[in-house]
Amino acid sequence: MRVVLVGPPGAGKGTQAQFIASHLAIPKVSTGDIFRYNVSAGTGLGRQAKAFMDRGDLVPDEVTVAMVASRLQEDDSLSGFLLDGFPRNLPQAETLKKMLADWGIRLDLVLELVVDHDEVIRRLSGRRTCRKCGRVWHVAFDPPSVTGKCDECGGELFQRDDDREETIRHRLEVYEQQTQPLISYYADEGILLGIDATGPVEDVTERALVALRRFIR
Ligand code: AP5
Repeated sequence: MRVVLVGPPGAGKGTQAQFIASHLAIPKVSTGDIFRYNVSAGTGLGRQAKAFMDRGDLVPDEVTVAMVASRLQEDDSLSGFLLDGFPRNLPQAETLKKMLADWGIRLDLVLELVVDHDEVIRRLSGRRTCRKCGRVWHVAFDPPSVTGKCDECGGELFQRDDDREETIRHRLEVYEQQTQPLISYYADEGILLGIDATGPVEDVTERALVALRRFIR
């Protein structure tokens, strides 16, 4: 199954992606995670991406698309994938469509996580991420049992640089201007499904899985 998760920053895409991908036994391909890995490893890709990420702007399309194209050609993506954070604007969506068509495949579903602005701010300001395994936590909504330490792997938790208040505000503007148009784009293609992404994480996962089952071919 080939799925895209779309929604504003903090909607819970990364949180849900880990459960959905594991449930469907397909790889989760998160452009934000790949960029962050490259930034912390100090690679050329990381150096190209860092300034854009710190400002809350999109990394240029040519960099992002080349990275995704290469990732989707790895063996584990051949039978399906879950894209988290890509595409992020109409040119990326058009490129993805053409790339998949060249490979004789297409997307099955674009799942939109719907949350309001205030909830996004609450979620992002309390988010903590594990430096070692990437597991996402929240200080109030999904706290680890020991403050600052990941329950899954014992890794150190950190707050993302782009989760500062002014950067969050800018990321939301970028979402509205550049990513929101994807909602009607995919609705017109007949593969968009929106779910309420508020409430407990497990309830959102259940709603997502019910939606996905309707589209499994
Ligand atoms: P990226 O990492 O994709 O950031 P984002 O889209 O802004 O999304 P987030 O990761 O902030 O939020 P999320 O929806 O994954 O929420 P999460 O699950 O963490 O991208 C970062 C940057 O990389 C971009 O700004 C850009 O520069 C660059 N980039 C990435 N992709 C790109 C592309 N395609 N093109 C160009 N540039 C690109 O949840 C948030 C918090 O809420 C967590 O603490 C979590 O525990 C909590 N939470 C989750 N669900 C619930 C719930 N149901 N109830 C309560 N709390 C919850």
